[in-house]
Amino acid sequence: MFELRRDRDPFCAALPIVVTVLVAFLAPVEVSLAGDLRSPGEISGENKTERSRALFEEAGKVLLHPRCINCHPSGDQPLQGEDGHLHQPRVERGAGGHGRVGMLCSTCHRSENFDPGRVPGAPSWHLAPASMSWEGKSLAEICEGLKDRERNGDRSLAEIVRHMEEDALVGWAWNPGAVREPAPGTQEGFGRLIRAWADTGAVCPE
Ligand code: HEC
Ligand code: HEC
Repeated sequence: MFELRRDRDPFCAALPIVVTVLVAFLAPVEVSLAGDLRSPGEISGENKTERSRALFEEAGKVLLHPRCINCHPSGDQPLQGEDGHLHQPRVERGAGGHGRVGMLCSTCHRSENFDPGRVPGAPSWHLAPASMSWEGKSLAEICEGLKDRERNGDRSLAEIVRHMEEDALVGWAWNPGAVREPAPGTQEGFGRLIRAWADTGAVCPE
């Protein structure tokens, strides 16, 4: 009896068609988003050195994105928004980048985004140290800094690659909350570019 009624209900009858059409429309959208960042296989160069450079330049679409730069500022204050304006309210790096007592980052930033208040969040939200400042730097300068153990938190190249692939603050850039533009591509795609760059000699742009 119920089955019969269901069959006659035009909405239920049409559901499989609606779903098929939706999937057909959404699939290309997903592809084009991932396509914002080329994969290592799509990047060539005259030789290994040139290819390594080209791989880093492609990864630079992420590194120079406001979602990364806002936490890697040149001064002692984080930045906000697509235009990288100074954080409102004014907060300072404080001890270890966690803010000053009374204005700790964790007072407002939790381990997840809080969209109703526009507050971004990820585990252990804090500011990158001054030695890792990227704001206003060229891609070549950022690249040299990344490889310099004096400035990069004493990380080996392999550790830098893993940081890019796995770190939660890095990953937040692709899940920045409803009001912000995510970094291009995906963290996996970005990680593959950085890994391929390291494998081809980690050559920096000139
Ligand atoms: C919420 C703030 C925050 C965001 C957003 C953020 N970072 Fe960081 N980043 C940090 C902090 C803090 C450190 C220092 C961590 C440490 O040394 O243990 C750091 C360190 C790093 C390092 C270590 C080496 C170095 O020289 O910088 C890399 C690489 C890095 N971040 C990449 C990125 C990338 C890529 C993005 C964007 C996709 C990003 N970060 C976004 C806070 C952030
Ligand atoms: C009084 C609350 C408060 C404190 C304390 C605070 N923030 Fe924020 N922060 C916010 C709010 C709210 C936003 C979102 C602003 C918006 O987009 O409208 C924000 C946004 C940001 C962004 C921008 C993300 C982006 O890409 O647009 C960064 C980076 C950031 N905060 C880092 C920090 C750091 C690092 C600290 C500690 C040194 C800190 N904040 C302390 C409230 C706070």
